[in-house]
Amino acid sequence: MLLLLCALSDLCGKCFSMEGGVRMNAKRRPILAGNWKMNMTATQARELASKLVPLVSAVKDRDIVLGPPFTSIASVAEIIKGTNIGLSAQNLHWEDKGAFTGEISAEMLLDLGCRYVIIGHSERRQYFSETDDTVNKKVKQALKKGLLPILCVGETLAEREAGKLNEIISRQVTGGLKDISAGDMEKVVIAYEPVWAIGTGKTATPEQAQAVHAYIRSRIAAGDAAVAAALRILYGGSVKAANAAQLFDKPDIDGGLIGGASLVAEEFMAICRAAERR
Ligand code: PGA
Repeated sequence: MLLLLCALSDLCGKCFSMEGGVRMNAKRRPILAGNWKMNMTATQARELASKLVPLVSAVKDRDIVLGPPFTSIASVAEIIKGTNIGLSAQNLHWEDKGAFTGEISAEMLLDLGCRYVIIGHSERRQYFSETDDTVNKKVKQALKKGLLPILCVGETLAEREAGKLNEIISRQVTGGLKDISAGDMEKVVIAYEPVWAIGTGKTATPEQAQAVHAYIRSRIAAGDAAVAAALRILYGGSVKAANAAQLFDKPDIDGGLIGGASLVAEEFMAICRAAERR
């Protein structure tokens, strides 16, 4: 089987322009995913999900996803059953099962109704020593088991200021997606989350975000143009109702991975509605 990203590893990040990219494909269905991080007890999660269900029930043509912590997945699953809201986990282990104390398997997540799993979030890379290699193992495991991976990539401020933006993004994309077939790439979602914008209130400008999204798409296109055209790339980093529409208007931004603002029902609803303009 053709391994999409083998070809990419030899390419220099500087070879690609940060402008332009593949224009928005009408077939790319936007995703608005809430990353609740380590917030919400099971009781609080049930309350928030119950508030959200009627608020977003009329939102059409986009995937709305909630990512509660592991302990709240079951209660959220109960509330969103039969609605237009999907469920994501925030992490998984790459082995099927066994002596891995404290870890959670793909099968456990599927059994609770998860369809997505966030992988390689910068907080996991930063505080829990995740590397491109472990991220890649998790992406493969998610795909093998039938979960859709949301692979997070993003540079720190120091890396951006040192002119290493392309290099870091390229390394994370190539490393995280190593040996993933073109067929499996259809199930992958990438989230670009500049570390300096996460939880800081500092959002990348729509132009900055678009430039990196276009760059990511061009990297994928170097391996397979059709895969790149269909790939959904989300922006994350202080997305709020006030800035969502400008971000989602950009041709290579296919929705958002939303942290803090997803914990407030009305705010998350407004962000989902902003994506309706696409
Ligand atoms: P934020 O988090 O929206 O609170 O910046 C985004 C994320 O880390 O996924």
